[in-house]
Amino acid sequence: MAIVTRAARRDEFDAVRGIIARAFPTHDEARLWDALVAHDPALTPECVRVATIDTHPVACVVALPREIRARGGLVPGAIVTLVACEPDRQRQGYGSAAMRDALAWMAARGRALGVLYGHPTYYPRFGFVPVLPSWQTDLSVGPDDAPITPPGASGQDSTFQPIRELPTAPVPAIALLPATDEHTPDLARLYAATIGPYPCAVARGTDAWLWRPRDADQHQVLVLADRAGYAFVSPDAEESTLTVHEAAAGDTSTARRLLTALQREGHDRGLAHLRLTLPPDHILARLARLASASQIYRPATAGMAVITRWDRLLPPRYQVDDEGIRFGWIRVLRANRRHLTELALGYHGVDDLLLTPECALPDGDGAAHLTQLRDDFPPLFPHWSLAPFWF
Ligand SMILES: CC(C)(COP(=O)(O)OP(=O)(O)OC[C@H]1O[C@@H](n2cnc3c(N)ncnc32)[C@H](O)[C@@H]1OP(=O)(O)O)[C@@H](O)C(=O)NCCC(=O)NCCS
Repeated sequence: MAIVTRAARRDEFDAVRGIIARAFPTHDEARLWDALVAHDPALTPECVRVATIDTHPVACVVALPREIRARGGLVPGAIVTLVACEPDRQRQGYGSAAMRDALAWMAARGRALGVLYGHPTYYPRFGFVPVLPSWQTDLSVGPDDAPITPPGASGQDSTFQPIRELPTAPVPAIALLPATDEHTPDLARLYAATIGPYPCAVARGTDAWLWRPRDADQHQVLVLADRAGYAFVSPDAEESTLTVHEAAAGDTSTARRLLTALQREGHDRGLAHLRLTLPPDHILARLARLASASQIYRPATAGMAVITRWDRLLPPRYQVDDEGIRFGWIRVLRANRRHLTELALGYHGVDDLLLTPECALPDGDGAAHLTQLRDDFPPLFPHWSLAPFWF
């Protein structure tokens, strides 16, 4: 018998919370649900999709409406989260039914792109594709290490070569302060300019709650005293690192100040390394590399995206079908949906995809379209940095 799925009702929110609390081994997810219910106006009953037995919810998926960055700009999308099924009803198709319902609901509402972090073996069956790689740039902050000394700063360090062609503005005193609600408009503006442009970045407004880590003992948003840059950080004593989840600076000299201030922050906390989890073209990652940071690339696994409406994700005149992608009526690439998702979101460029056995240029004048595909789908750095609220 077909499993009945639908939106939750508000009077079922406690029941949904119960499913989440029982399905997950820790209370973190139930606490996240409580926090979303308390703060997030986007969490309406309609976006909580449930699978039912005898009209009672037994599995749920939350498709939290958000604007998400795609190649052509922001598109309506959703963060897919809190995927859960009653423990005694698992492996009977209820979780899958709730997920399929969530994706159909997103498609029907024009929510074209969904993002999630989850089990890489479970979600691909629904069309989710790992597209969110991670880069880890590690910079030592020890006393013997070369600080990033901006040109013109007093006390030049002989071991660091400043980048001569960059502006040599005078460097004001560097101070990082804990961000308060008052800083939110500045943080949101810096985020939009620096982190927001990466594909899969979720638009983040000026709602103060989004910028407050729930576990403030472990995670902090720090802001430069002149509000020209910020970083969202967590210390990790075991690894002796200060992890920088997110950082933004208004200009190059601010980026230098921010990196120096973060090094000092790590040093003052008795930690050995600064760990930037930022895309490799992010100004802080680039500055860190210039100061001999090491960098590790990890291919996408848990960070996934699903496209529910291809018409919103492709440049004009492109269309996806079962065989690949067309430009108008002309077939320009043979590829499966997984590879097309990677292409659409910039995780892989067309030249890399053509190295896989599943992708090919069409017979005949296929090569003629390669230049166009390269121009229209340049490789990018998909990157979704969860808002401090999620921590
Ligand atoms: C994940 C979950 C929602 C799936 O719901 P479900 O109703 O059990 O799933 P379905 O019956 O629709 O699908 C069963 C399939 O999912 C797979 N599956 C279930 N949980 C999985 C997991 N954690 N990782 C990988 N695969 C999983 C099963 O192996 C089975 O695969 P098969 O069809 O190839 O045999 C449910 O197992 C659950 O609540 N887990 C605990 C909470 C959780 O981990 N949520 C996901 C967080 S990312």
